[in-house]
Amino acid sequence: MFDAKTTCVVVVGAQWGDEGKGKLVDVLAERAELVVRYQGGANAGHTVVIGDSQFILRQIPSGILHPNVTCIVGNGVVLDPETLFGELDQLAARGVDTAGRFFISDRAHLVLPYHKLLDAASEKSQKLGTTGRGIGPAYEDKYGRRGMRLTDLRRVECARAMLADRVGRANRLLEMMGSSERASLDQHVALLERLAPRLLPLTADTGVLVHRAVRSGRRVLLEGAQGALLDVDHGTYPFVTSSNTTAGGAAVGAGIGPTAIDGVLGVVKAYTTRVGNGPLPTEAEPPFGERLRELGGEFGAVTGRPRRCGWFDATVVRYAARVNGLTGLAVTKLDVLDSFAEVPICSAYRLDGESCAEMPAEVEALGRVQPIYEVHAGWQEPTGKARRLADLPAAARAYLDRLQTLIDVPVRYVSVGTRRDQIIEV
Ligand code: IMP
Repeated sequence: MFDAKTTCVVVVGAQWGDEGKGKLVDVLAERAELVVRYQGGANAGHTVVIGDSQFILRQIPSGILHPNVTCIVGNGVVLDPETLFGELDQLAARGVDTAGRFFISDRAHLVLPYHKLLDAASEKSQKLGTTGRGIGPAYEDKYGRRGMRLTDLRRVECARAMLADRVGRANRLLEMMGSSERASLDQHVALLERLAPRLLPLTADTGVLVHRAVRSGRRVLLEGAQGALLDVDHGTYPFVTSSNTTAGGAAVGAGIGPTAIDGVLGVVKAYTTRVGNGPLPTEAEPPFGERLRELGGEFGAVTGRPRRCGWFDATVVRYAARVNGLTGLAVTKLDVLDSFAEVPICSAYRLDGESCAEMPAEVEALGRVQPIYEVHAGWQEPTGKARRLADLPAAARAYLDRLQTLIDVPVRYVSVGTRRDQIIEV
């Protein structure tokens, strides 16, 4: 993706999340100097496999596994400090030194224990299938202009007063929601007193760091979490997360202008998965759904929930290509399809007897669409050793060509396994 003119690249999920962005960022980060996470929080679980080691990163950009890369958690992220230190300690225990190359925006908002209580309480009625990480309530506080930002920790007295107000409000809400849970102010104060001395030295005006890197032509990767169909504006609302997962959110959440971005890589699985509730038009009938889940190891990296699995949906990815302005596609987990005799692709929908080329805004309508499938012959050969397109069986190449034609975005990468080296650069 990087060349003389393309130095600032966004990597986004172009389905419902879990597309394998962590692996792509890890591979691309080898050529980058700065990697920035720009939205979401500990709801993400980016899995990277290096040799026999598996790393699950929730908030720290996947680029951290490259020793010369500086990583940033941008202002658009809602940061769960306890989870963050768990991640940092896990990296340290496995010999990954992050000192001097990991920074968090002082404008990033904090996710506090009371946000998780509110998330759990609202799930009882809303039933969105959230990750329970307090993401929605933290963004509600942010947009309600009562969030706590990292910079607030610099003024201890002010932070205590803010906490007293926020915890009191959360407890009133919990009562109104019929929950018997209550947040403890003492626990919140103790948590921030314990974590602030470790957090503040990592805190910086990261927008300036990213801006300077872009201005001086250094290679910058902006790492998205979740996927386009979980974007709060463009996703299957209300079954979405609470941030802008799409490329537009990258500029805002990293603290730079949109003109700084040169390219947008959309990551898609060779099939489709979704975790949580909401419509999934190409969800596969038994036994195919189960087989995809088993072969692809499709269980949530954060919650362990089984992912719902189905065939590739070109209507979804065409839509994601449009709302993200994708300039390239990375197709992951092609190897998961290796044993199927036939591989369907949904090329369009029918809605109430009419053909429907665009994503309907209403989830109820999306729940009713009938996918129109093209059935492609499977290749029934292992692809995990392929390192060039020419190494792939002809039917697998034909499948990729068809995806590229339907989406109208060039395929730049194909991943054929979990390991770092199992990738084809086109
Ligand atoms: P929340 O982000 O925890 O509020 O959850 C809202 C919706 O987004 C739920 O359907 C979650 O399952 C989904 N979601 C959030 N993060 C991820 C992710 O990283 N991968 C896949 N789905 C996610």
